[in-house]
Amino acid sequence: MPRLGVNIDHVATLREVRRVAYPDPVEAALAAARAGAGAITFHLREDRRHIQDHDLLRLRQQVHVHLNQELAPIDEMVELALKIRPHEVCLVPERRQELTTEGGLDAAGLSARLAPMIARLKDAGVGVSLFIDPIERQIEAAAALGADFVEIHTGAYANLADKDLAERYLTGVDPPRALKGAKLKLGEAAAAELCKIRDAVKAARAAGLKPNAGHGLNYGNVAPIAAIAGIQWLHIGHAIVARAIAVGMSRAVSEMLALVGGGRSAAARPRGDSAGAVGRR
Ligand code: PXP
Repeated sequence: MPRLGVNIDHVATLREVRRVAYPDPVEAALAAARAGAGAITFHLREDRRHIQDHDLLRLRQQVHVHLNQELAPIDEMVELALKIRPHEVCLVPERRQELTTEGGLDAAGLSARLAPMIARLKDAGVGVSLFIDPIERQIEAAAALGADFVEIHTGAYANLADKDLAERYLTGVDPPRALKGAKLKLGEAAAAELCKIRDAVKAARAAGLKPNAGHGLNYGNVAPIAAIAGIQWLHIGHAIVARAIAVGMSRAVSEMLALVGGGRSAAARPRGDSAGAVGRR
């Protein structure tokens, strides 16, 4: 059963469109953790479009669950991560023009650049994850680079899966009831993407990597991904923050936990004592 990591970037997005102090992503992270999220995920982008440098320190000081920092594989970001030493970093590709992270990292093609970064982060006790597409060559490269985790990119699956359930959930008046008895329709292309993710999780485990998954997951499409054996963390942001606007963070997280299968007991574990935690201090 995977555990839930809540990505709070979009709380900061709402703050940054007005350049004010609210809403506060740290407060959102604390609310998510109280509701049972086992991890908080955040991405300090080069263009600082949502999370800001000052958020990093506050997250590190105030949030006492597994912290997962997404970052582009560039020296500036690695230095910042080494300052706050989250439990885990996830190296992601970044392009200035993109709305959100698009493809996975080319771990195979970038191995010469990634190797020293991964070594430094691991030496500092930070667990390293690589955000990759569900492709065997990338899994092999991640294992050869000594990564601890891979986060399998679920975006292609999410884009192809039927959006009807998610839209009913996120715009409806009684979303949990709307899902009762409803079945996610997966066309051939979505089912093929799901198969690729299953195979990638299996291959990652066989290579000694801990598999995570995320991107584009929501209340309608998460169940088949959560059912894949061996996934450690599911990192989910946009859908939970969107739902939180209607019902509050606590309920938004609880509803996602009900679908993912995690629960309060998992969240009650102390910081660093989580299923996928590495680099304990
Ligand atoms: N995982 C990674 C590596 C991401 O870059 C993102 C987006 O920031 C997510 C998970 C969360 O994606 P979403 O906001 O679509 O749930």
